[in-house]
Amino acid sequence: MDDVLSRAEGLARHSDSPDHYTRTWLTPAHQAASRQLQAWMREAGMEVRVDAVGSVIGRYESSGSDPKREVRGLTPAPRIMLGSHFDSVRNGGKYDGVLGILVPIACVAELHKRGERLPYAIEIAAFSDEEGARFQTSFLASRAMLEGAEAMNSLLERRDADGVSVAEAMRAAGLDPVRVDEARIDTKSLAAYVEVHIEQGPVLLDAGRPLGVVTSIASGSRHLARVRGEAGHAGTVPMGMRRDALAAAAEMVLAVESQAKAAGGVGTVGILTVADGTGNVIPGTVEFTIDLRGPDDATRARLVAAVVGELEAIAARRKVAVEVGKRHDVKAAPCAPWLQDQLEASVRRAGCDPMRLPSGAGHDAMIMAEATDVGMLFVRCGAGGVSHNPAETVTAEDVQVAEHALLDFLRNFVVPA
Ligand code: GLV
Ligand code: MN
Ligand code: MN
Repeated sequence: MDDVLSRAEGLARHSDSPDHYTRTWLTPAHQAASRQLQAWMREAGMEVRVDAVGSVIGRYESSGSDPKREVRGLTPAPRIMLGSHFDSVRNGGKYDGVLGILVPIACVAELHKRGERLPYAIEIAAFSDEEGARFQTSFLASRAMLEGAEAMNSLLERRDADGVSVAEAMRAAGLDPVRVDEARIDTKSLAAYVEVHIEQGPVLLDAGRPLGVVTSIASGSRHLARVRGEAGHAGTVPMGMRRDALAAAAEMVLAVESQAKAAGGVGTVGILTVADGTGNVIPGTVEFTIDLRGPDDATRARLVAAVVGELEAIAARRKVAVEVGKRHDVKAAPCAPWLQDQLEASVRRAGCDPMRLPSGAGHDAMIMAEATDVGMLFVRCGAGGVSHNPAETVTAEDVQVAEHALLDFLRNFVVPA
């Protein structure tokens, strides 16, 4: 099989920064990575296309019908989609997303080498934007695949840190912002979507298991909070008379942390910006992001309500204003029991003791779950389970066993009647 690890190394060289691995939607590095993925998919015997938002989709045709493994109720010829994303967070790890593209390519390359076709077509989707680090989008590419132009609603004028709009970035990358709707796929013949992903946590590492079968993906939402106080002179306004937006925001950040702990969810403030921040000016306006997640939708909804309530109480006490706007919202996605069972059987046949576990991280599978049944295979994360961090790592042995398990899964894949 192809060497997935050396490909992941090679792909990480296509980075927006010379100092670390950051690859964001439609930058020159992102386009170079896209071309490399297209070449690897073609080499693996796939027909390749690039969709209207820059996702790369490879297709390996089926053998035609096979009465022994008939896939019922799906028209026309059924297909399974495998995939993940090839954008990254800033200063991220080399395997987040990329593993779920390279492992499937390796499996298809193996089928192609043996001249083997399966009774259904295999598509590999390399999603162009999942992390959304450039434009603060999320799951944009998988959303565009299901929702077409709707996924882009109100986004075309959003700007990156350099002031480039989504529409301008698309045009610069040779994509037409008015044709986003063409990214929409026909989901009628889609039998399932299966995503391989590095676990991004320590559970498999602690349990001594190379692979895990995901049971469900946590519910999540992102918000932007804007706090308005009053800018003033740092030397003249007495402490008791200030309406310091940053001091209020600091208390709000701690409230996000305490509310998340109390609700049994997780909460993170990842970006905080002081508008016109200057060392000798009392901050007047501060914006910060809030990422809130819970194991299920009800827990997350309670957490969102508790955080908003707490932020409003802090704002009232400190005589500042706070607005919390929702940036995105995605429901918890259970993985289909029949896919969990088939993945587990393949993990076992690949020589590993399987383990089932939930996913705290978000994945394109959550979006695809709106159109078809989804399954996920986790690969053990090394270095204590750290991810969204350049120290993120996997072993060659674990990747090898993931390839064996996925290939076995594809060869034995049957949609239940
Ligand atoms: C994706 O990486 C997420 O934020 O869970
Ligand atoms: Mn990620
Ligand atoms: Mn990911």
